Amino acid sequence: MSATKTKQQLLDELKERIDAANVTPELKAQATQLVFADGSAEAEIVFIGEAPGKNEDEQGKPFVGAAGKFLNEMLEMIGLKRADIYITNIVKYRPPNNRDPEPAEKEAWLPYLQQQLDIIQPKLIVTLGRHSMDVLLPGLKISQVHGQPKRYHDRVYLPLFHPAAALYNGGMRQTLIDDFALIPAILKKI
Ligand code: URA
Repeated sequence: MSATKTKQQLLDELKERIDAANVTPELKAQATQLVFADGSAEAEIVFIGEAPGKNEDEQGKPFVGAAGKFLNEMLEMIGLKRADIYITNIVKYRPPNNRDPEPAEKEAWLPYLQQQLDIIQPKLIVTLGRHSMDVLLPGLKISQVHGQPKRYHDRVYLPLFHPAAALYNGGMRQTLIDDFALIPAILKKI
């Protein structure tokens, strides 16, 4: 009889399957490494960004550059640490020169993101920016729905602006901070 696998073991196996599957080979060929995820497999909240940038590509972890620093600050404001959450991107290899991920690339990666979510089964999924919102909550406008929890296909989502977009835009920065502050109450309600 085999013991039940932990979520972390299942995620490790998924990571191996991704390596073997050769997803978006053109991106893979130009990237330093796969940027799979960071944080706890047992987290109640999963954050989903767009794609790794230069720092993430070099370090193999999501959100370790300027946007990540801002994200860490906002987590701290609501009493959370990076180790309390799970964080990943839709596209897991860095697009050249940080260009936007193409629709075909997002589509190629979506099944793997869905498997991550199926394993973790978080209470709340926070999408950061329009790219991760579009693949999981199609047809919405981020300017209209940011900060509003959405129940869709048995999961609860909170669409937020992307910290990189808000970093140097005073108004959007404050909006993102205000939206972030809603997270504890939303979690309590679920
Ligand atoms: N922006 C993202 O969307 N993801 C990262 O990992 C870093 C910056």
